[in-house]
Amino acid sequence: MSKVGIIMGSKSDLPVMQDAIDILKEFKIDLEVDIVSAHRTPEKLFDYGKHAHTRGISVIIAGAGGAAHLPGMVASLSPLPVIGVPVKSSNSIDGWDSVLSILQMPGGVPVATVALNGAKNAGILAAQILGASNKTICDTIIAYKEGLKTKVLASSKDLQ
Ligand code: RP5
Repeated sequence: MSKVGIIMGSKSDLPVMQDAIDILKEFKIDLEVDIVSAHRTPEKLFDYGKHAHTRGISVIIAGAGGAAHLPGMVASLSPLPVIGVPVKSSNSIDGWDSVLSILQMPGGVPVATVALNGAKNAGILAAQILGASNKTICDTIIAYKEGLKTKVLASSKDLQ
């Protein structure tokens, strides 16, 4: 079974990254979570990036704030798709520093960057990547999207 690896630069990122954990759990997708700091544990980052694909992980979600080098560095080391979550952290000026650090990757080393604090979408995107080659997960995504539609149509009806 494919697994999603979720990493973040600090425990202080967990309240934001929890949204990715929650949606993947809701989708019943296997995941593992860890704290890996690009600046404070560079050896651990190197080991994680080099070996994640050998441990059954298929997609990596990486969240960080401020000078957010974790997603880009892990993308430089890993053959897996990396989804970056910019976190508006205590050391972030206004969130733009985190967004741009993760978004503006050089050609050849992509990071699929979601919105500021957009960990829920990171979880959904990871599930969609897995769902492209797994019918059960694909059906889960289809049902989830149906649910979104039903909710909007219900609020539209309520409003009338
Ligand atoms: C980043 O610095 C982390 O990803 C976090 O968003 C931010 C602050 O880290 P702490 O000082 O809370 O550990 O590297």
